[in-house]
Amino acid sequence: MSKSHFIWGTATSSYQIEGAVREGGRGVSIWDTFCQEPGRILDGSDGSVACDHYHRFQEDVKLIADLGCNGYRFSLSWPRILPDGTGKINPEGIAFYNRLIDTLLEHGITPFVTLYHWDLPQNCKYGWLNRETAKAFGEYAKICFDAFGDRVHNWMTLNESWCSAVLGYGLDVFAPGIQDSHLPYIAAHNLLLAHGFAVQKFRAGGYPGEIGIANNCDWREPLTCDPQDLEASERALQFFYGWYTDPLFTGEYPELMRSRLGKRLPEFSADEKKMLIGSTDFLGLNHYTSSYASGYPPQNAGSEVVGNGGLSDDQDVYLIPIPGAEKTDMNWAIVPWGLRKLLNWIAKRYKNTPIYITENGCAAPEPDEESAKNDIMRQKYLRDYIAEAMKAKNEDKVDLRGYFCWTLMDNFEWTSGYMRHFGLVRCTPEKLDRIPKGSYYTYKNIIKNNG
Ligand code: NOJ
Repeated sequence: MSKSHFIWGTATSSYQIEGAVREGGRGVSIWDTFCQEPGRILDGSDGSVACDHYHRFQEDVKLIADLGCNGYRFSLSWPRILPDGTGKINPEGIAFYNRLIDTLLEHGITPFVTLYHWDLPQNCKYGWLNRETAKAFGEYAKICFDAFGDRVHNWMTLNESWCSAVLGYGLDVFAPGIQDSHLPYIAAHNLLLAHGFAVQKFRAGGYPGEIGIANNCDWREPLTCDPQDLEASERALQFFYGWYTDPLFTGEYPELMRSRLGKRLPEFSADEKKMLIGSTDFLGLNHYTSSYASGYPPQNAGSEVVGNGGLSDDQDVYLIPIPGAEKTDMNWAIVPWGLRKLLNWIAKRYKNTPIYITENGCAAPEPDEESAKNDIMRQKYLRDYIAEAMKAKNEDKVDLRGYFCWTLMDNFEWTSGYMRHFGLVRCTPEKLDRIPKGSYYTYKNIIKNNG
């Protein structure tokens, strides 16, 4: 692949930026409902106005173009296209995304479209616990391929299914807000089937281009060379990225999950396996942070035992913070070398399948415009993480095809409301003005120097 084909982009998602939730015929999503539950969102806010991208998308595309990006990752809102989840198509929703896609193309920006970034139509009864939702997703995906597939050639089915399943159905943190130690495995299973149904439609329809998935993963560095620590690190990665990726290659969950969970892990039927195997043209990676992993309970007081949420008993991995690592405003440790190691792990496990970094970025405390313009932490984060990604690509020969910075502008950061700032551009709910930050220019230079 020639150097200039590398994709440099920014990433966003529908509920986090669009606003206009009651406009243009959009239906209700589980996040609209969840935000209304008292105490769910840190500042009591919701995505009803967000960045008002629905009305200001032209300004936003211009900002992306001025950055020098040749790609933009955004998501389609399922309830904007199918207000009830299934059935009647909303022409205004289709028209909105047509305008956005056409504007991107006019600016020479390739659209990378995520079909699902957590805003499930409220009407999909029982959500991801129901196989019907997976079926409905396949139908919805086909509608999107038919409507946009002439111009969109880079698709992602699902964003961070780990979060949908674990935070939504395990830890009661994300919509729909369920706490349970078993249901995440069911939700994950249906999410994977949803991916499979969508890809089946894509391939059967002969649409041009490629389709993949955006899975998230932190790096887990073995604490020592002790075999228990090495296996703990491997187990943590298989329970994180492997859970949502192995089935797309083998039709099975990772071996370390199967051996620990036995009958608690659902199984794919022979037909479903057939559908899933080979169902991804590339792998997306959303990555932000790293920690040590150990198979032994920590001895020192500074250690934390944090498994992957409610499933930590199943994993039995002790996660230990990396000493001295600075933390972002999400309290996530900044460990650039973790990205290179993770890219190598993925490349090795999945036979050098093409990879896109579909998200990477930094939340920094920015109480005012001045601090946003001098966002030193974010500038350094981007420089250092991108340098490690480039080492993986150029020195380790990982087939890395692109990098999408999370995110274009400050937006609705789920349960943190508008209190966490990831944007290259400042955008506050009070003013909605777009003000490029220091990191906007840093990223622009990185793109220029690498392009
Ligand atoms: C993960 C999600 O995909 C995105 O929606 C979120 O805003 C960022 N990472 C930061 O938490």
